[in-house]
Amino acid sequence: MDTLHARTATTGTAPSPSATGSLFRPLGGALGAETDALDLAQPLDAATIEAVRAAFREHHLLVIRNQTLDKERMYRFAELFGPIENHMIRLADGSKWDAVHTITNLDAAGNPVAKPFISSNYFWHTDKSFLPEPSLLTMLQAVELPPDGGDTQFADMGKAYDALPDAMKRRIEGLKSVQSLEFMRRYTGSAPPTEEDIAAAPPIAHPLVRTHPETGRKSLYIGMYSARIEGMPEEEGRGLLEELLAHATQERFLYTHKWQLGDLVFWDNRCLLHRAIANFEMGKHRRVLMRIVVKGTVPN
Ligand code: SIN
Repeated sequence: MDTLHARTATTGTAPSPSATGSLFRPLGGALGAETDALDLAQPLDAATIEAVRAAFREHHLLVIRNQTLDKERMYRFAELFGPIENHMIRLADGSKWDAVHTITNLDAAGNPVAKPFISSNYFWHTDKSFLPEPSLLTMLQAVELPPDGGDTQFADMGKAYDALPDAMKRRIEGLKSVQSLEFMRRYTGSAPPTEEDIAAAPPIAHPLVRTHPETGRKSLYIGMYSARIEGMPEEEGRGLLEELLAHATQERFLYTHKWQLGDLVFWDNRCLLHRAIANFEMGKHRRVLMRIVVKGTVPN
């Protein structure tokens, strides 16, 4: 899947490789960039693919406007970044998510509900940090939106790490945090995992400060799955994790995405936290996003 065409608003022709550097413009906020000059339903050429990858490395989150991708096209675009992840999350009826699934506030009958079955996405997290090889990239496409709100917020863990006092950087150097699905379910008030889920994903320790495998940049690796600090008394570890989370989610490290229909948004879970914001009437309005995740590697 290496043959694609970009659309420019003015000419309808593919941009030359030299023009692709300006394909994305930074979003207001701590991170992210956007474009309305790509049509992902058409093949992209190699230079455009490389420009998208380079922008992703630089900005950590990209917004591509005005897309109407079906599952197949979304899958094809996502796999340009790596192997697609399978899911263990179970829905209310016991079924598992497909590779391309929807994240939504609708119940099984298609009606909006105030507390959706899956609502842990409303807490700060980085996807699947409880697995040995957590998610690299998550991609969402806006299909149905409430009239206002339903935003998604992102926090830059590289900037947050850089801004820590030196004493804190020394304190956390070499520490590992234990990531636990079971802890997350308690923390977010979600249904407890089954014995089978716990056996498939037992708690695992990952570095509290991870190094980005492509940029070499250090960032905090925390969020709702971070249960405790390995080798530290539980209360002290919880205190440290909460202190780091409060620091890392200050306004100066954030970008809040206000969705438009057709937005395709994808971000780097290796250096960002994210959460949905419950700033709409969930029991009244529909919010449906298509979602796919690219598998990552062992954090170092
Ligand atoms: C997610 O956590 O992957 C989805 C965030 C959202 O619902 O906006």
